[in-house]
Amino acid sequence: MADVEYLRKQLTAHPDFPKKGIVFLDIFPILRDPIAFETLITHLIHHLTSQTIPNSPNKKIDAVVGLDARGFLLGPIVALRLGAAFVPVRKKGKLPGECASASYEKEYGSDTFEMQADAIKPGQSVVVIDDLIATGGSAKAAGELISKLGGKTLEYLFIIELTFLKGGAKLDAPVYSIIQSE
Ligand code: ADE
Repeated sequence: MADVEYLRKQLTAHPDFPKKGIVFLDIFPILRDPIAFETLITHLIHHLTSQTIPNSPNKKIDAVVGLDARGFLLGPIVALRLGAAFVPVRKKGKLPGECASASYEKEYGSDTFEMQADAIKPGQSVVVIDDLIATGGSAKAAGELISKLGGKTLEYLFIIELTFLKGGAKLDAPVYSIIQSE
């Protein structure tokens, strides 16, 4: 748990950003410190692959799906260490070729996520990664895209979980978060 405390100490809280009433938790101080960044990635890989910790998926992972935009900073590193594919989920209109799409509700209005239709093959095992889970809407849309392509989501991974919003209850697989914020 020393690594979790070390990572928690790096986070900075920004009241009333990007709008009044939201306390924005910034992960970028972790990425700025190479020791902290390495600790974060090692923690995630240990969680995903451990034979001994009880909540590890401990299964072969074919693809790591990263969510637009901060999931793009973590997903490729985790994927490379696992020897898995990295697959981006992007906002509508950014990815070329045939895409699957799924809409989700945001605080104001809705948005649409897309994934390239050939990015995940039927039967593949996938994990989803982003920096933070709030209401879980964007992670749920990513899970829908994976299901549409015939993949199986093993787990949703986050650095931070805003537990009071209960976003994990919307999802079709367990949530793993390193830091819980109430
Ligand atoms: N995304 C949604 N809520 C957030 C928060 N409080 N901090 C950082 N990112 C967020």
